[in-house]
Amino acid sequence: MNTAPLVVRDHIRVVPAKRIHGEVRLPGDKSISHRAAILTALAHKGTSRITNFSTSEDCESTLRCLEQLGVNVKRETPTTVCIAGVGPRGFSPPSESLNCGNSGSTMRMLAGALAGYDVIASLTGDKSLLARPMKRIVEPLNQMGAHVQATMDCAPLTVLGHHPLRGIHYEMPIASAQVKSAILLAGLNAIGRTEVVEPNPTRDHTERLLRWFGVVVNSETIGPTDKTRTTIEGPCAFEARDIAVPGDISSAAFFIAAAALLPGSELQITNVGLNPTRTRFLLVLQLLGALIEIRNLRDECNERIGDVHVRGRSELEPQKPHANLIRGSLIPQLIDELPILAVLGTRVRDGIKIYDAKELRVKESDRIATTVRNLRAMGAEVEEFEDGLTVNGPCQLQGAALDSFGDHRIAMAFTVAALIATGVSEIKDADCVRVSCPEFFKLVESVCIR
Ligand code: S3P
Repeated sequence: MNTAPLVVRDHIRVVPAKRIHGEVRLPGDKSISHRAAILTALAHKGTSRITNFSTSEDCESTLRCLEQLGVNVKRETPTTVCIAGVGPRGFSPPSESLNCGNSGSTMRMLAGALAGYDVIASLTGDKSLLARPMKRIVEPLNQMGAHVQATMDCAPLTVLGHHPLRGIHYEMPIASAQVKSAILLAGLNAIGRTEVVEPNPTRDHTERLLRWFGVVVNSETIGPTDKTRTTIEGPCAFEARDIAVPGDISSAAFFIAAAALLPGSELQITNVGLNPTRTRFLLVLQLLGALIEIRNLRDECNERIGDVHVRGRSELEPQKPHANLIRGSLIPQLIDELPILAVLGTRVRDGIKIYDAKELRVKESDRIATTVRNLRAMGAEVEEFEDGLTVNGPCQLQGAALDSFGDHRIAMAFTVAALIATGVSEIKDADCVRVSCPEFFKLVESVCIR
């Protein structure tokens, strides 16, 4: 019997797995690849080579937008990209709208990069992206002297840049690495100090890459709070430098969860990014009793990288009180892993509780609603809140008809749910995994034992 996932048009059929075994190397991190592309394009001199560049459709959107802005992008191989810096003259005005596809990172960070040049550009995207909030970048960029217009808080955006901008002090109302990055990228072309304060620390790839290019970036925690202040002094000019991108830890999370929950599993994820602002998922899993070890930890291009080794058990058990309560400052550092964490909650003694995660409602789908819908379809007991969800556990999921709602992380989280379920599942619109990890189903099959 052929048990491999069967893609019928855009549906995928997933047969449960007995265990996971082997080694996976994931394509380059999506967050780092976006930033590497944008920052190398901003170099004042020279061409940078980026290796292990993400194969995601989102990062391809970034490259295509940069090309429309006059940036010379050469794809040497599917994962090696050479990008020539635009130099002090900056971007050229695009003749058509920049299509950011499904990618909020492309739209928000490019808007920040464009804001400090004398160009006008409009940025658009797919149906999901056009519904996502943009006021969060419009406000600070306009305070810096750009003219950014959104349509009722959402994309499409029109950016009328201004050179130079002025540095501002900005207290972000929500914790968002995309917003922080947009402001810092604008700050490169601002006179004076650009200071961003975030309510809770978020991923710091922009800061690390800027330092890789020799830009001075100061980051500090403010007093007894969780607030973090990040500062640069503009204007800043830097030259090209090569970048090696580590494997994507957010894609790895799905493989780690599957291996952790199938007894007898043994999986190694090799050369994956282990930036401390991205590894909260691993720490939470360890506190829930998952058998995870980090090996070969090292630094490359100012990022942490290593191998993750996972062994499976049938049920997880919190190792200390409240280990299954996910809220507050944990949320921004787990934001993309919350759907898979909710799936994992079905195998945790006492289940899992996720609060303070209202931001999930404005991702590629309303991830609270789409996670709850699919978990219920598989027989889980779930309660939905405005800012989160609780999942009763442990419970045995049943194969079901599921829907990705066009959201890549929902498609991947419920592929894992289907692997640990009894009975076959079908996932509608599963092809959307291409947004972050086009190789996902092939990689899953390479390590699944049935
Ligand atoms: C990202 C930041 C997060 C995350 C997204 C990628 C980034 O978004 O959800 O997938 O690369 O900076 P927010 O900044 O909106 O939280």
